[in-house]
Amino acid sequence: MTMHSVANHAIGKAAKDNIFGASAAAKAAAAKVGAENIVNATIGAILDDNEKLVILPTVDKAFRSLTDDMYFSYAPISGLPDFLKLVQDDCFGESRPKGYIKAVATAGGSGAIHHAIWNYSEPGDTVLTSDWYWGPYKVFCRDMNRKLATYKMLTDDNKYNLPALTEKVTEILTKQNSLVVIINTPAHNPTGYSLTSEDIANVIAMLKKATADNGKKVTLVLDVAYIDYAGEREEVRKVFKNLSDLPENIIGLVAYSLSKGYTMYGQRCGALINVTASEEQSQEFADVNQYTSRATWSNINHGAMQTLVSILTDPAMKEDIRKERAHYYSLIQSRGDLFAKEAKECGLKMVPYIAGFFISIPCKDSKAVCDKLHEDNIFAVPLAAGVRVAVCAISTKKVKGMAAKIKAAIDAVEK
Ligand SMILES: Cc1ncc(COP(=O)(O)O)c(C=O)c1O
Repeated sequence: MTMHSVANHAIGKAAKDNIFGASAAAKAAAAKVGAENIVNATIGAILDDNEKLVILPTVDKAFRSLTDDMYFSYAPISGLPDFLKLVQDDCFGESRPKGYIKAVATAGGSGAIHHAIWNYSEPGDTVLTSDWYWGPYKVFCRDMNRKLATYKMLTDDNKYNLPALTEKVTEILTKQNSLVVIINTPAHNPTGYSLTSEDIANVIAMLKKATADNGKKVTLVLDVAYIDYAGEREEVRKVFKNLSDLPENIIGLVAYSLSKGYTMYGQRCGALINVTASEEQSQEFADVNQYTSRATWSNINHGAMQTLVSILTDPAMKEDIRKERAHYYSLIQSRGDLFAKEAKECGLKMVPYIAGFFISIPCKDSKAVCDKLHEDNIFAVPLAAGVRVAVCAISTKKVKGMAAKIKAAIDAVEK
């Protein structure tokens, strides 16, 4: 190229999406040999055992019952007032933390993470997450002139690696005055790992200690995109209690998404929720995030927000959607547990799967392993640290036998 058409900061940015690449390969194979003969483990959405996209019936009903005004008119920039109240209840359940809490509507969980990084980290600074992470975190950081650093998520005996997190937090805080830490839990993408409530309590205690007498500030972002498929509803929400009574220099943010919990992936609705012990910080959160929304997408999907409101203000619908989610949670869980059982039987090493859409298998050359799996018509996503298998999207009968085939592919590639 003789001359770049774009500004300097934009040169060379191209989101090389491994997920998209793997999904395109699966689609091409399906066209050739028939969808029933391939295993497409690349899709991040729930498919039922007939491999049909699941739309929760209650969401379908509520969404299709809105008035024209609710689909077509502008919503307030911060979000519909009822949505902003109800989304907090939906997120926290019976474990609402003590403190000032406000929410802002965002374009999915992605929008929430975008706003968290933009408004809580400084340009040029480093944001921290675990070594197994959802790829777009890095895209957000780079696009906003931030760097992304990682720590080893698990110890050798597969416990949450608080020492590794502590070391990185301490190191980064010698170089910058504030730090954003993103933890995706429960039912982490790409591994299905979940931190216990005690793990989160230990993280917060460590952050308090790391900032106790240096005047520094840490924002803890809990990305809970998969919380509705992570276990018993109130049990998995107990982690939020740990956000109670935070000191002023530890800011709690929760990135909430309607993509999975309401199967409204394409309707682009979510929320960023702030928990703080300070009324002024709470108002500051609302002000700056409304401003950033104005400067990015203005207002978000009116109908999607109203769908949450319609469901959560109708006791029967509220009950129904919980039953529907519990059903699909069990379906995905049984697929994941089957994979884990077979992995154990054939000696395939995997990251401990607790719940959720994905399973990860550590390996050295994930691209070569995924290419090898194409010979068996299995399509999975190659990540830096291993292979991701979307158990949310493959029928139970196709999960059967997969672990052994992955083991064979790894053995063939790494021999
Ligand atoms: C870890 C993680 N966080 C957040 C999201 C947010 O998704 P969305 O922007 O579709 O709500 C996703 C979706 O794939 C995810 O995997």
